[in-house]
Amino acid sequence: LLAELPRLLRDRVPAHRWVIIADDTVARLYAGPLLAAFAGAPREPLLVRFPAGERYKTRETWATLTDTLIEAGCGRDTGVIALGGGVTGDVAGFVAATYLRGIPVVQVPTSLVAMIDSAVGGKTGVDTSAGKNLVGAFHPPRLVVVDPEAAATLSRAERAQGLVEAVKHGAILDARYVAELVRALPSLLEGESASTEAAVLRSIEIKASVVARDEREGDYRQILNFGHTIGHALEQASGYTLTHGEAVAIGMVLEADLGERLNVTAAGTREQVELAVQALGLPSRPAPATDVEAVLRFVGADKKRRAGGVRMVLLGELGRVAPGDGWSHPVHDEAVRAVLD
Ligand SMILES: NC(=O)c1ccc[n+]([C@@H]2O[C@H](COP(=O)([O-])OP(=O)(O)OC[C@H]3O[C@@H](n4cnc5c(N)ncnc54)[C@H](O)[C@@H]3O)[C@@H](O)[C@H]2O)c1
Ligand SMILES: [Zn+2]
Repeated sequence: LLAELPRLLRDRVPAHRWVIIADDTVARLYAGPLLAAFAGAPREPLLVRFPAGERYKTRETWATLTDTLIEAGCGRDTGVIALGGGVTGDVAGFVAATYLRGIPVVQVPTSLVAMIDSAVGGKTGVDTSAGKNLVGAFHPPRLVVVDPEAAATLSRAERAQGLVEAVKHGAILDARYVAELVRALPSLLEGESASTEAAVLRSIEIKASVVARDEREGDYRQILNFGHTIGHALEQASGYTLTHGEAVAIGMVLEADLGERLNVTAAGTREQVELAVQALGLPSRPAPATDVEAVLRFVGADKKRRAGGVRMVLLGELGRVAPGDGWSHPVHDEAVRAVLD
């Protein structure tokens, strides 16, 4: 599909000039073929690179990229192609959201996290020293073009990061999808393109259906946070030695456990979630050295805290979220402590 991008853009996105934003790793792998696909176009796209990694998802990177567009004289007829993983999608999307008060962005995700999750839904932004994703904007892409063959150059560990979010999509809305993922895991972890395509398609269907119903996270969209309240807290309490995927894997198991203990979640659900997580080769329980008090503090600091307690998305059973007060349930700290111990 990368080779067909210029045609897709011509038919669907009203821009005359393109800026491709990519990190150095992805640029080395995919910018050449993409630029080659534009050969013969009226105007050669401008390729702008930045260093790879979460620590470059900053306002400084945003400023440098934006200055480059200004210096190149990009006008309102410019569109941004975000070529890369979730970091690139978020920061390039934020550049597009703010440049001249907003120009079109096309997401071309190359990591499995981005294909399965971040390229769809319109959240863009950067981190600050006070926390992740604290500054940003909703800026839905005009087009998302996924070439599943790009998964071939990812490491197994990076693929597992994306597949955690796919398991989450199944856990909240489609139990059969969880079973299909577990069955296809050997080829998914190898980056095989047909099974990757099937998973990306189903995950995008699920995420898009949620976002279409509640784009700005009034209430329903928070079901995508399943596993993330405890997950984020574990990630922060570990000082980011746990990856996001590892932390969310554990978070989903513990939140299913919590739901069972509160009689909101059907018995046996925790076990189903845990089996899926283990099949991915990810941890399903916190490490014994986990600082439980720190985790509880971070759970409390979570954005989902409202007056009087933490609010959490809980499953009714695998494949269904339990409606509560809206789409979340009040949970006491002691209940969280109980599943951490
Ligand atoms: N906007 C959203 O809704 C949303 C949702 C989930 C995650 N995110 C964000 O996404 C980020 C994580 O995404 P990520 O894991 O893709 O991080 P990333 O963009 O840093 O990519 C991970 C690494 O893989 C490399 N890479 C990407 N594609 C590759 C390919 N095809 N072959 C080889 N290497 C490749 C990148 O250069 C990078 O080094 C976080 O910042 C998170 O906040 C955003
Ligand atoms: Zn996540």
